[in-house]
Amino acid sequence: MRETFYITTPIYYPSNKFTLGNCYTTVICDSIARFNKKLGKDVFFLTGTDEHGQKIAKVASEHGLSEKKYLDEIVEDSKNLWAILDVEYDKFIRTTDEQHVKAVQKIFSKLYQDGYIYKSSYSGLYCVPCESFWTESQLVDGRCPDCHREVINQKEEAYFFKLSMFADKLLNLYKEHPEFLKPDSRVNEMVQNFIVPGLNDLCVSRTSVKWGVEVPFDKNHTIYVWLDALLNYLTALGYMSEDDSLFKKYWPANVHIMGKEIVRFHAIIWPSILMALKLPLPKQIFGHGWLLFGGDKLSKSKETKIKEVLDPRVLIELYGVDAVRYILLREIPFGSDGVYTTERFLSRYNFDLANDFGNLVSRSFSMLKKYFNGTVPQKKSENEDDKKLILDVSNCAKLAKESMENFDVSKAISEIFNIFKLGNKYIEVSMPWVLNSNNDERLQTVLFNLINLISTGCKLLNPFLTKSTKIVLDAIGETEFNFENIEKISTIEAGRVVENVPVLFPRLDIQKEMEKLSKIANENN
Ligand code: MSP
Repeated sequence: MRETFYITTPIYYPSNKFTLGNCYTTVICDSIARFNKKLGKDVFFLTGTDEHGQKIAKVASEHGLSEKKYLDEIVEDSKNLWAILDVEYDKFIRTTDEQHVKAVQKIFSKLYQDGYIYKSSYSGLYCVPCESFWTESQLVDGRCPDCHREVINQKEEAYFFKLSMFADKLLNLYKEHPEFLKPDSRVNEMVQNFIVPGLNDLCVSRTSVKWGVEVPFDKNHTIYVWLDALLNYLTALGYMSEDDSLFKKYWPANVHIMGKEIVRFHAIIWPSILMALKLPLPKQIFGHGWLLFGGDKLSKSKETKIKEVLDPRVLIELYGVDAVRYILLREIPFGSDGVYTTERFLSRYNFDLANDFGNLVSRSFSMLKKYFNGTVPQKKSENEDDKKLILDVSNCAKLAKESMENFDVSKAISEIFNIFKLGNKYIEVSMPWVLNSNNDERLQTVLFNLINLISTGCKLLNPFLTKSTKIVLDAIGETEFNFENIEKISTIEAGRVVENVPVLFPRLDIQKEMEKLSKIANENN
């Protein structure tokens, strides 16, 4: 049996204006899922939408639509965006799916029967847009620490989950399984900000929220949206349904990936619920940093005044899906935040995509055409440069693979681009155009190595930049491949005919594009 690999994105609040920020979490998960498939694993990649709560009901009524109608349209729209972004998920869960709703109710009842949920009353400071209760000490300047809006006093009869009894268990979990919560800095955040000040029992039902999953044995209450939402990771696999074969196969998840602001729900509440259900815990919670726009996270609940095109569809239309995937995957260093600016996007496009990658491919392919009529030549004797090249490429491939074990996507990509840089340097040093006139054998080896280098780099890059690498790999005739022996770079044999490819990333006039984008941004704002 193949090793399984279950990976999830958070489920998104439905919005037809998904920003580059939301796309980040999904694209990163898509790339990790694709990479693990190439490693030979049996991958299940889950994404979806978080559709309950006061906020959704409010927005739907502002649009003059029923919740369901409003949501259906948005869900279609977001599925369409994921398709444009070449995201290949295995399941899209909606928290309004009947199977999910039924399972959530069964789980709630089970937790109640087992004594983990009890009825009491709650009064506290509540942020309506974030649907979160806060304690006085958590507020920032008297406001919600997440969205900075005002909080209100709210009192209601409610059900509680005995979160407080899990504090020690959580501390033990972080200590005994340092791999559970990554990057490491997040552990300290959880312990210092939430566990040390004392974990309160969690209010898990609302009477004030109508658009939600009803508590099955007390219909005045709906289940707290965060509980409803977290359970998607189980219900999507059929947990508590007639067919739980996927659950049996894929649970526990290998990794739940999310932005750092929602790590506390996943690293505190989620494992506690799973412990109460006596289920195995996910192997890892990974909290990535934010893509910052002008110094702030772009969130849908915040106004942003930045005049930049942040609509992924517009950027994809103009520069192609790989350019957008590239900036997302490359710009956030491991565990920290990354800054997005139009200028950075365009210059990365020109320097990395057009120069380092695109140009290497077109130079190499056109030399192959010119000197060998497009047929990969036989490799002849190797000199020190060749040996070093092969060693260096193999080393980059190894580092890229290792980085992906830690979900360090940005580092993995930079190692893969180092392969292309090595290729460009190799061309400069070996000067094939000089070789052509006086050393045919050397020229054969150089082009053999270049095509193999490009093939290795494109295979490794394929989970990240799906379109352009496929064009190159199709041209080389490498359509089926995996990462089993990717470090041994020579797989293309002499005699293979390589097709021509179009220019992958036409060079941009950055100034002109900046003006174009700024005009679009102004029109849209
Ligand atoms: N519905 C909850 C998640 C429930 S999961 C059981 C939610 N949804 S969200 O739509 O607000 O956010 C989804 C993801 O988008 C989060 O991982 C969040 O961090 C990510 N991003 C939104 N803007 C972002 C950036 N600017 N940068 C990086 N990711 C950010 O939270």
